[in-house]
Amino acid sequence: MTTSDTPRADEQVILVSNRGPVTFHTDDNGDQIMVPGGGGLVTALSGLVELTPVVWISAAISDDDARIQRAAGNAPIPIPGRGTRTTSRFVLIKREVYDQYYNVIANPMLWFIQHYLWNLSRAPDIRQNELDAWELGYQVANRRFAEVVSQELSRRPDATVMLHDYHLYTAPGVIREAHPDAFLHFFVHIPWSQPDYWRVLPNHIREAVLEGLLANDIIAFHTARYARNFLLCCEDLLGLRVDYDQRLVQWQGRDVWIRSYPISVNAPTFEAIAASPEVAAEEAPILRRRRTYLIVRVDRVDLSKNAIRGFVAFDVFLDRYPEFAEEITFFALLQPSRQDVPEYVEYLDKIREVVSRINTKHGNTDWMPIDLRIQSNMAQAVAAYKHFDVLMVNAIYDGMNLVAKEGPLINERNGVMILSENTGAHEELGSFALSVNPFDIEDQAEAIYKALTMPLDERSERLNHIKRIVRENDIEKWMNAQQVDIAAKRDHDQDNRARASNMTDD
Ligand code: G6P
Repeated sequence: MTTSDTPRADEQVILVSNRGPVTFHTDDNGDQIMVPGGGGLVTALSGLVELTPVVWISAAISDDDARIQRAAGNAPIPIPGRGTRTTSRFVLIKREVYDQYYNVIANPMLWFIQHYLWNLSRAPDIRQNELDAWELGYQVANRRFAEVVSQELSRRPDATVMLHDYHLYTAPGVIREAHPDAFLHFFVHIPWSQPDYWRVLPNHIREAVLEGLLANDIIAFHTARYARNFLLCCEDLLGLRVDYDQRLVQWQGRDVWIRSYPISVNAPTFEAIAASPEVAAEEAPILRRRRTYLIVRVDRVDLSKNAIRGFVAFDVFLDRYPEFAEEITFFALLQPSRQDVPEYVEYLDKIREVVSRINTKHGNTDWMPIDLRIQSNMAQAVAAYKHFDVLMVNAIYDGMNLVAKEGPLINERNGVMILSENTGAHEELGSFALSVNPFDIEDQAEAIYKALTMPLDERSERLNHIKRIVRENDIEKWMNAQQVDIAAKRDHDQDNRARASNMTDD
């Protein structure tokens, strides 16, 4: 892809994700403020807008987003400070529809299926509420997204449409009907679970998910394991013939490529943030309070992140190795997330309860073993990354987990990472971290001990390997690998079309 100001038509990108690059709010003085969109996905995709002209289509999250889009009609809105090459279009979705789409189907239903989070003897119950939420929420919201994409495609039919994540599985089918020759690319940022777990969903829903996705030209995942699970689902649940070697499925006369590209961070940008005054200001109190050792975890409050088992492992560690009492603090920075979903509210309550039990059991007036902060503070997280001795990443399942890349990249203490074998990051970094089974609390307790007692040269060697891998495989590589495949797939389709038309001529 070139960076010239006159891009080829097929270099334009229509980016589509539930959460967009910015959202607008009115502050107490009545002034409009622009807030960057949250989450790893938005941060990662923000790099793309520097490479190519992008129209970024996302849901109107705030009332101001909706008002601004209404005023602009069907036109994209320039994003202040982002030049003329990035524009945004907010999709207007009625509040009740959005609630069913986001709070009933996307989170928790699909999220839980893809992270194996349902305790199947007790949940989920699929009742009229869920069936309605599928039809009147998820499907309606997806059609709204598809309509807006179609409008943009009519303006630039050669653009590449890049859709992201589990909120939008059925939109591609609707877009394909309106634009049979459009180039549709889909990235799934979360794990893809095995076929039997998808059987939790009624037949018509799981088929709609798979068929919606198969309307794309390329379906991308973070790891080879998820791509393979997707192929297995096509075979098992749709009865399709799949080619595991070529990673290809044929669907309605088209070849669909299934690929994997591990997402990463923008290493130079992240290193610059780590050196900023905002981060330095957050480092001072961390350094003042720190004991001999510091364990850090940074996560959204999400069931998939496995915070509770991490704390319980710390409890077991303190029982078993009392010599560390008063010498160590577990600094846990958890950002509130999805608090409209009851399972998330309950999980946060449980976290608070477990932490308070452990602090009461081991702590004293002078020492609080777990310092739990439920807040969103990026500068503080980065400051903590610089000073951990142990980084705890013990997710149950996780698409990639960017903390596993960000933390070691800027750590200055030869810190050791404890890394769940079920994170996407484990495929690249597992050999240099201490791998753990996220369900095995004994394993995690021992890993804490092993990390804290590891000789300096081994710690430094492991950390340097991780830093090197993260710098080498950074976000640009992720983006470029996808662009190469998009170009190859466009050529492949063109050849197929030419061959088909020759055959008709004969
Ligand atoms: C994960 C998902 C993203 C999502 C983010 C934050 O990273 O893959 O699609 O945006 O979590 O979650 P939220 O529900 O706040 O958008």
